[in-house]
Amino acid sequence: MTIHIGAAPGDIAETVLMPGDPYRAKWAAERYLQDCRLVNEVRGMLGYTGTWRGKPVTIHGSGMGMPSLSIYANELIRDYGARTLVRIGSCGAMQDHIELRDVIVAMTASAVSTPSRGIFREMNFAPCADWGLLRAAVAAAEARGARVHVGGIHSSDVFYDERPDLGEQLSRHGVLAVEMEAAELYTVAARHGARALAVLTVSDHLITHAALPSEDRERGFGEMVEIALEAALG
Ligand code: HPA
Repeated sequence: MTIHIGAAPGDIAETVLMPGDPYRAKWAAERYLQDCRLVNEVRGMLGYTGTWRGKPVTIHGSGMGMPSLSIYANELIRDYGARTLVRIGSCGAMQDHIELRDVIVAMTASAVSTPSRGIFREMNFAPCADWGLLRAAVAAAEARGARVHVGGIHSSDVFYDERPDLGEQLSRHGVLAVEMEAAELYTVAARHGARALAVLTVSDHLITHAALPSEDRERGFGEMVEIALEAALG
């Protein structure tokens, strides 16, 4: 047991899918895993372990934002031996050619700051996805006929952004979408020699201000779970 995870040693698989919302972890585990059991519920951050096509996998919430994700990613990797971590979540599109429900596979994640920022001092570290996972996720998305975009995203510390000029500069530099966790996931994984990737669906659009109704979010979420499982274990 760790401070934030009540699982017994051996209860967490080497492959972990991480949605932000703990209830999405429950939904995905019950829908996609066999023999799944609850392994963590400390602070309501639900984690489930089961198998997918006979291979062990854990689906564990990360919470919203990089400080929360950082706690779970650190403990899952350092204390429970997780080696492959795939974030599955939603994002806001920052390019005209991207539509609601499109899948974004994040090659890099830019950030003003991450919880790891202090380590690098004057250096602007470039958080980067694992290439093998990224390639496998793109192949899985294309095989399903999903509209998929691969490139850089923005991991923001704020949902309610008081500084729209920053987003405009990032859009101008080709950044595809904004979310709030991937940069720290990539950085923590890199620090410990683990593999990480973020697979996202577009839930809202920062240019058109369109947003998905909640029932569509669930369908998009299911597609991401399947892509993430294929990429990590297929
Ligand atoms: N901003 C930050 N995170 C997000 C957004 C957004 O617009 N949409 C989904 N996650």
